[in-house]
Amino acid sequence: MEGVLVSAQKAGSPITVTVVSDAHGHFRFPDGRLAPGHYMLRIRAEGYDLDGPRSVDLGATSTEIAIKLRPTSDLAAQLTNTEWFMSMPGTPAQKWPLLECMSCHTLERIARSTYNGEQFLAVINRMAQYANNTTQARVQLRVARRNVRQDLARKFADYLATVNLSHGPTWPYKLQTLPRPKGRATRVVITEYDLPRKTIAPHDVRTDAQGNVWYSNFVENYLGELDPKTGANRDFPIPVSKPNAPTGTLDLEPDADGNLWLALMFQTGLAKFDMKTKTFQIFPIQPNLDSDAMQQSMVMPRAFKVDGKVWTNDVAKQEIMRLDLKTGKYQLIDPYKLLSKGYQHGPYGMAADAQNNLYFMDFGGEYVGRVEAKTGETTLFPTPTPNSWPRRTMLDNQGRLWFTEFAANKLAMFDTKTETFKEWNVPTPYTYPYDVFMDKNGELWSGGMASDRVLRFDPRSGYAVEYLLPRSTNIRRVFVDNSTSPVTFWAGNNHGAEIIKLQPLD
Ligand code: HEC
Repeated sequence: MEGVLVSAQKAGSPITVTVVSDAHGHFRFPDGRLAPGHYMLRIRAEGYDLDGPRSVDLGATSTEIAIKLRPTSDLAAQLTNTEWFMSMPGTPAQKWPLLECMSCHTLERIARSTYNGEQFLAVINRMAQYANNTTQARVQLRVARRNVRQDLARKFADYLATVNLSHGPTWPYKLQTLPRPKGRATRVVITEYDLPRKTIAPHDVRTDAQGNVWYSNFVENYLGELDPKTGANRDFPIPVSKPNAPTGTLDLEPDADGNLWLALMFQTGLAKFDMKTKTFQIFPIQPNLDSDAMQQSMVMPRAFKVDGKVWTNDVAKQEIMRLDLKTGKYQLIDPYKLLSKGYQHGPYGMAADAQNNLYFMDFGGEYVGRVEAKTGETTLFPTPTPNSWPRRTMLDNQGRLWFTEFAANKLAMFDTKTETFKEWNVPTPYTYPYDVFMDKNGELWSGGMASDRVLRFDPRSGYAVEYLLPRSTNIRRVFVDNSTSPVTFWAGNNHGAEIIKLQPLD
């Protein structure tokens, strides 16, 4: 069988290495990747479970083994969110609110429930009171209660009661699956690094100049560092300023000196981590602006040397904020003041150009926005696809912003020089890409919360490869290390307490 993922984890090691079988059904771990020892084996091939062997002893010379699979008795447990979206009947409008349900758990949780519409309404109302930075390993409640529109929630609840198990022990529709990887998508080595606690939720992951890996922890107040050679993890505690508020950070961005900045979410404000002294400097929100609802998810320090200012956002007010490093004070900028009231939006992914002008993604809406550093004046550029929910972004050295259109299932580019857009459909429907990264070869790398796949996409030719990951993987920020050839892709598994390194073999 082609496209079977085979994973080997040495007893006691946090590192798992995965390869994929080729068109002849052969798989091979590259020389030097598995030291002698006792290894546990796993497989991923939808529709099948591992029959055996479950472990293998490797000596100093190469070992040959054959692996046997058997049909699974629980296909639903193997479905990705993308495949639940494919399987569930319903109109796009009915399925739309499910987009928000992938951020704390998989859609399997919803599909396996037995609630009727009335009962599901109560569940939806309960979900709204959990903080974004919640996983199943660490549940956190919002301090400020959130209002849910009951007419819309009831409609959604009634729909969900038609796709779950409220009518009987099996689903009233066929479970759809995506094909296994083939061809180039099998030419890859994937390394998973287990983090030491199940409660660690790696959100943004990136490497530094020395090749060490840094990540923001979405639910615990630590900045994490991983040694990719040994898998050793180190936690740098970030002071907790609001003991009753949810902990955890989201955006992790380097400044021009290589120091790391974090957006402190419900702890509010920003933190700067000095890479030499390994200490934090906290920039709290001034009390007259701060509140229980306030939430900083993004930070953009890259061009702070131009004017001593660092960009961030407030999710609750749906506004941009700017920190003045001299005074330590934040300024609020409403980028939507010219739009009609009631428009659903919120500034999210951010990039700054060399003059520290800000580009931001209008998540929940459909704009790429620009705020002039000197005047604070805002311009909004609508994406060609309406209601696209632009999410995270990066600015390349040719002035092109690469970003995902989460809700439109597209990758997109905004040329800041010509102020024009280009969009590309992601090849698999319901992938809902979260983030995208342009590498040194002009190829795009993308991942998200739905498909357990990493997309490699050439925007010049439209050529796409999708690498399947060994486990259920909730990806947020994606990162490419351009110092290797081929390049190396990195991301966190936000729900799985692991860091993922993906090395294409070509
Ligand atoms: C912010 C985090 C978060 C989001 C977003 C979220 N959930 Fe949950 N969900 C949880 C947590 C935590 C649990 C387990 C605790 C509980 O049941 O309250 C859970 C459990 C569930 C369960 C199982 C409940 C049970 O009684 O067994 C269902 C069904 C569910 N969620 C549906 C949804 C739906 C539908 C959505 C989208 C509208 C959603 N969730 C979005 C956090 C979330």
